[in-house]
Amino acid sequence: MPGPSSGEGVVPISDAVTERTAEPAEPRTAVPVLSAAGLSVRFAGRRGAPPARAVDGVHLDVGAGEIVALVGESGCGKTTLARTLLGLERPSAGTVSYAGRPLSYRSRALRAYRREVQLVLQDPAGSLNPRHTVYEAVAEGLRIHGGAADERERVADALARAGLRPPERFFLRYPHELSGGQRQRVVIAGALVLEPKVIVADEPVASLDASVRGEILALLLRLRDELGLSALVVTHDLGLAWNIADRVAVMYLGRIVETGPVEKILVAPEHPYTQALLSVLPEARAGIPVVLSGEPPDPSRVPPGCRFHVRCPILASGAAEEAGVAERCQTEDPAILAGSGEAQAACHYAAARARA
Ligand SMILES: Nc1ncnc2c1ncn2[C@@H]1O[C@H](COP(=O)(O)OP(=O)(O)OP(=O)(O)O)[C@@H](O)[C@H]1O
Ligand code: SF4
Ligand SMILES: [Mg+2]
Repeated sequence: MPGPSSGEGVVPISDAVTERTAEPAEPRTAVPVLSAAGLSVRFAGRRGAPPARAVDGVHLDVGAGEIVALVGESGCGKTTLARTLLGLERPSAGTVSYAGRPLSYRSRALRAYRREVQLVLQDPAGSLNPRHTVYEAVAEGLRIHGGAADERERVADALARAGLRPPERFFLRYPHELSGGQRQRVVIAGALVLEPKVIVADEPVASLDASVRGEILALLLRLRDELGLSALVVTHDLGLAWNIADRVAVMYLGRIVETGPVEKILVAPEHPYTQALLSVLPEARAGIPVVLSGEPPDPSRVPPGCRFHVRCPILASGAAEEAGVAERCQTEDPAILAGSGEAQAACHYAAARARA
């Protein structure tokens, strides 16, 4: 499987960009572990305002043992998509499937599902109860799901897997007695204790110092290698995606606008939005930063045609006109991308260039 260096080594994007080559993805034939098909989530607008199309027609597959990074700027719908994949939000349209079977929203079925697909949240301080010890925090999930006779061993095992060793030393500690990185490991142990197949991590390192980020990312990679875990990692940080993901899905205003193997997307992106995101990465050495103009995107006012057209530098520069696609950019919504692994971009200009 193409992907980042596994194990402990987290490679800075600046070094890795020059080392990696854009290799084609291996075709994926197996049924994805977790999958969204035509998924849409709308939130009612306040005081007669139009509804917010937070997720607006998304196909996305996560394969067995695959780490997919979902990237995009604030408000593009990443958390809403993640919550819908976890069954915490009901889609307005489309289907979430687990191991090829559509998700049932009956409470018993959802409980069983949430054992298999675990959420790891952004803010370890906020997601741990300050009055619960580490032991109680990790055992809580087991107890919610009916308990386990070997609770103590399972809690110890989960803490050790999350890198808190020897685990017994942490049992009686409270969150305020831990560092930010240790708290994040406790949150991860709380997910691991249920032996999930998939982890959905929403900005798992956003609140951590740079030095601790690498350790937590290395931990997620090790869990993938040791336990065969799949993961959807939500982030607005493309550098993080580079270090951890096999595949990247770039989201803009409720839609996946580009997806493919991490090497392809971060070394040779096709979509002008991905190019703009990458150009402002300090490590990217990709020439002049592209500062996106226009209003910040609003999911209750999705532009017609290509939803990015009001901010697109390719359209603004006249390059789309030269390629003969400018009118389509403004009137024709590019086709929704397939959820599977191959490189794809929802862009008329990229398609015209590929044909030329
Ligand atoms: N419960 C809700 N009711 C109404 N609108 C909502 C609700 N939840 C999210 N939204 C809107 O849906 C859009 C997508 O929000 P979401 O939280 O999914 O974005 P995000 O990509 O996770 O952003 P961030 O990077 O800031 O976490 C936003 O415009 C947000 O205001
Ligand atoms: S379809 Fe047109 S407007 Fe949209 S990203 Fe491509 S070039 Fe820009
Ligand atoms: Mg979010």
